[in-house]
Amino acid sequence: MSTVRKIFETMEYGPAPEAPEVALEWLKKHEYSFRPFIDGRFQDVPDAQTFESINPRNGQPIAKLTQCGQAEVDAAVAAATAAFPDWSGLTGHLRARYLYAIARQIQKHSRLFAVLETLDNGKPIRESRDIDIPLVARHFYHHAGWAQLLAEEFPGYEPIGVCGQIIPWNFPLLMLAWKIAPALAAGNTVVLKPAEFTSLTALLFAEVLQQIHLPAGVVNIITGNGSTGELLVKHPEIQKLAFTGSSEVGRIIRKAMAGTGKKLSLELGGKSPFIVFEDADLDSVVEGVVDAIWFNQGQVCCAGSRLLVQEGIAERLEQKLRARMETLRVGDPLDKAVDIGAIVAPVQLQRIEKLVEQGKSEGATCWQPSWAVPQEGYFYPPTLFTNVEPASQIAQIEIFGPVLVSMTFRTPSEAIELANNTVYGLAASVWTENVNLALDVAPKLKAGVVWVNSTNMFDAASGFGGYRESGFGREGGKEGMYEYLVPNWERKAALSDKANSENTGNAPSEIELSRMPLAESDEDSFEPGIDRSPKLYIGGKQIRPDSGYSFAVRDASGNYCGEVGLGNRKDIRNAVEAALKAASWSRSTAHLRAQILYYLAENLSARAWEFENRLAVSPGHSHEEAKREVSKSIERLFYYAAWADKYEGRVHAVPFRNVTLAMPEAWGILGIICPAENPLLSFISLIAPPLALGNRLVVVPSWRFPLVVTDFYQVLDTSDVPGGAINLVTGDPDELGRVLAQHDDVAALWCIGSKEICEKIERDSSGNLKASWVNFGKTRDWFDGGQGQGTEYLRRAAQVKNIWVPYGE
Ligand code: NAI
Repeated sequence: MSTVRKIFETMEYGPAPEAPEVALEWLKKHEYSFRPFIDGRFQDVPDAQTFESINPRNGQPIAKLTQCGQAEVDAAVAAATAAFPDWSGLTGHLRARYLYAIARQIQKHSRLFAVLETLDNGKPIRESRDIDIPLVARHFYHHAGWAQLLAEEFPGYEPIGVCGQIIPWNFPLLMLAWKIAPALAAGNTVVLKPAEFTSLTALLFAEVLQQIHLPAGVVNIITGNGSTGELLVKHPEIQKLAFTGSSEVGRIIRKAMAGTGKKLSLELGGKSPFIVFEDADLDSVVEGVVDAIWFNQGQVCCAGSRLLVQEGIAERLEQKLRARMETLRVGDPLDKAVDIGAIVAPVQLQRIEKLVEQGKSEGATCWQPSWAVPQEGYFYPPTLFTNVEPASQIAQIEIFGPVLVSMTFRTPSEAIELANNTVYGLAASVWTENVNLALDVAPKLKAGVVWVNSTNMFDAASGFGGYRESGFGREGGKEGMYEYLVPNWERKAALSDKANSENTGNAPSEIELSRMPLAESDEDSFEPGIDRSPKLYIGGKQIRPDSGYSFAVRDASGNYCGEVGLGNRKDIRNAVEAALKAASWSRSTAHLRAQILYYLAENLSARAWEFENRLAVSPGHSHEEAKREVSKSIERLFYYAAWADKYEGRVHAVPFRNVTLAMPEAWGILGIICPAENPLLSFISLIAPPLALGNRLVVVPSWRFPLVVTDFYQVLDTSDVPGGAINLVTGDPDELGRVLAQHDDVAALWCIGSKEICEKIERDSSGNLKASWVNFGKTRDWFDGGQGQGTEYLRRAAQVKNIWVPYGE
């Protein structure tokens, strides 16, 4: 007799196709041919070069698109430039109305958007319909809110100007929303280039903009491949670039934009760990893995592509996974019952095939389900690799396909080590029924997002973005809004002569090596008595410079007044080593860090006269100014001591049964190049905020007058600052800056100096995609409460990690 169970198990799977007609009609209406959207309309491009967009389901062309060149990029940027004054001049409320109208329009046409996305990209309709498009609408709603609240929530900030935006093909409309919504909410105008494989929903979106009467030029959409993107990156009139895509292109862009003074945010690749502890609910884990690596065919920057399993349960989990993989359905993306759709393009399919072959040749065991994928179109089966070496290519390279690599660990600390054994740091999943363990592990993972017992969850209220080579900057949440805003004083600050000369990153020849005997010393200004030539300050100790050289420091009149150690590459490495060992500073309580900052202020105050005398002979200082600088430095230490235990995170209201904890997390090791001017106050203003948040520092003090900082060694020694929390290497900022920029263990680098040194810092840090904060030679008044101190410094001293913790059974 048939039972319900038997019927359920033997029932044939029947297709449930989504009707494509409305989308096909839309394509037909446009005669399958599209022009770029510039200045509010689809512009004719005479003698345009074109390229085809194909349906990955069958390889058939579905539309012809314009390959935009210099003329179109110029026209789009000109339209955005012309639209900026009026758009940025609107009240937040009026901009909110436009964003709200976009959200409503997306919802009203959601099915057309979903079907078109699936036709163009190959992703299952279930995903475009239930995930991508609802999230797009949610993003515009959320940012309508930020537009409304802009003046209240971001006082002292203003929009940047014209923003260039380049997006990838894996979430075409969603990435557009992540870029356009915050840019418009903040009052910027936009030129966006969709990926060449998937431009159609961006062009449908342009029609929505016409329907809601968005002012012409506020959003412009130019189509084309990487060469169009390159033209946009290099355009002199854009003020900010936001990019999502491969780390290779991210590096090219970082280099191309170095020293331009333009803002940049990069959301790049990942090789995210999916960590399963032995007490995890394995059935939930299996469904989690399906969402982690087979969602969108694994073409997801934050895909959980490295499965890390506690040894005791590895075999059982792999068995369950194989059984589940056998039941996954790969096929027509428009079929609502399909789990895995088509790979976006032949080139991507070939890349996946090649990497899988490489995995096999590396000796890993490859498993795929028994069934075959459709022959027509670009399909690839779900794939599991076991016996994978952590250092192998498939464990390190982003495959960007439905391929999971599995490794095992024994202890939580081994899991963390394995998870962080990657150049990336975008996301991570942690699976355990033990909330204590989950919340202990989450902060130790170098990743911008950590999902506990869940994966691939996104929301507009929660920022998204990476650590390390996964890029810098955040999209979504309040932190995402800052990417499209600039402090208004900074915008007005001019490139100063002072910044170019005194403040400059100098050529090595400008450093005057001291030669024995000190024949040139001026008896009047050289303090007689016991020699106090300072060394470097590394790991809490004074260390002789590796070079064995010192350099002369001169006072305002050019008289010799002392000498300091000339640090080199090796000293920076030693300083970073010492900072690595001082991890306890990052783990210390905010209360303790506040106390130590107060203590520094106390000890500086006790020796104020000594610092005043020292500063009084430095270039550009009268005794009165010296007094003022010391007094302000003490106040500044108090200011950041006050903030240390008050700069807190948030709990986001995401529309799930979840708490999402947005935690500001110290970078780890931060490099700082100090300017020449106000050598004590600028130094204190730059070290206090990152110390307050738990960073360990490697600092290059003012090269022109480092003596006031070397005097500070003794204040550090008497204020309970643990050895290695702050390391000071005096010397040529050009040379030392390069070493800091290229050092992989330095997570971020600040540089206040000339335009030239800032450019070098940005170029030198493009290799490892280090986050940098530089002033491009713009003047900064260190005494000014808005310019020389503020929460902007704290914001730059941390990156936000979002930890998603579900609740309910
Ligand atoms: P890609 O980085 O080349 O393309 C992303 C976007 O950048 C596209 O709009 C493209 O036209 C544009 N672009 C390419 N070269 C450019 C240049 N020199 N200047 C400015 N814009 C440029 O990514 P691609 O080739 O499509 O995919 C290659 C690999 O990149 C994938 O296999 C995957 O590993 C990774 N990838 C990662 C993504 C992510 O979200 N993290 C998204 C897409 C790709």
